[in-house]
Amino acid sequence: MIISKTVSSVRGEIKAVKGLKTIGFVPTMGALHQGHIRLVRESVKVCSYTVVSIFVNPTQFGPKEDYSTYPRKLKEDLSLLSKEKVDLVFVPSAGQLYKKNFSVSVIDSALSNKLCGKTRPGHFNGVLTVVAKLFNIVLPDLVFFGQKDYQQALIIKKMIEDLNFPISLTTVATVRQKDGLALSSRNAKLTDSGSRDALAIYESLSIAKSLIGQGERDPVKVIAAMRNKIKTKKSITIDYLEIVSPDTLEKIRVINGKILIAVAVYVESVRLIDNLIIRAKA
Ligand code: PAJ
Repeated sequence: MIISKTVSSVRGEIKAVKGLKTIGFVPTMGALHQGHIRLVRESVKVCSYTVVSIFVNPTQFGPKEDYSTYPRKLKEDLSLLSKEKVDLVFVPSAGQLYKKNFSVSVIDSALSNKLCGKTRPGHFNGVLTVVAKLFNIVLPDLVFFGQKDYQQALIIKKMIEDLNFPISLTTVATVRQKDGLALSSRNAKLTDSGSRDALAIYESLSIAKSLIGQGERDPVKVIAAMRNKIKTKKSITIDYLEIVSPDTLEKIRVINGKILIAVAVYVESVRLIDNLIIRAKA
């Protein structure tokens, strides 16, 4: 496993394999868990060369967000990756990716102002910009993103189409703890009681799923039941609970066909998100 810290060294490695091997790429911000590893294994399974990047991207954090306190565990991350069949790990410094006179970025104007974009203005432009830069450096054939960050994967898919990146994107199902909590690097910031309260996130999604399974078609009622579940936990503040179209992220008025139920909350001020995609019978 090669560890590269500079753009030029990654370019050198990629030059030797591009066109000869299928390059799979998993971008991450590190503090790796089994969710990330699932993406890596998917890449290793279908590609003959796998690249992972670890970079806590400053441009996707708002001024009041947790950039400085985001968990950083490079040593553990590299040790985890060395047990997988990863060929190259790209670990750039902020200075490698953003020069002082950096002034061009990638902006989406349709999907980015929905869901997480409402509370995190500029977040998805930061994500798109860094992901576009990483794509231009790593030149992957296939890229792997998690469904946990559904909106992110959707917007990146749109960028790939709109900007003609010759890349195919696979979305990988959310990896959860046995109790349902979606794995997240930010879970490490929770206290024990916060971790227990956080279970209400998946429980609320499960309540929504079963209500819809029983025939409920009014999103207002489903969301009210989810809210009631989450409100029992004092350490949780709701950012949003929404039932939307998985294609446009627009709120829907009647539950019918494929829908996305999306949740964002703060548990002890730690922002956590989760979602479920459900097919509701007509
Ligand atoms: P990060 O939060 O580290 O996530 C990296 C990838 O792992 C994303 O595609 C995310 O959806 C996926 N992932 C996270 N938790 C998961 C889980 N429980 N199950 C399955 N996949 C999971 O997302 C980012 O980093 C950044 O925004 C990035 C794309 C790297 C750009 O900076």
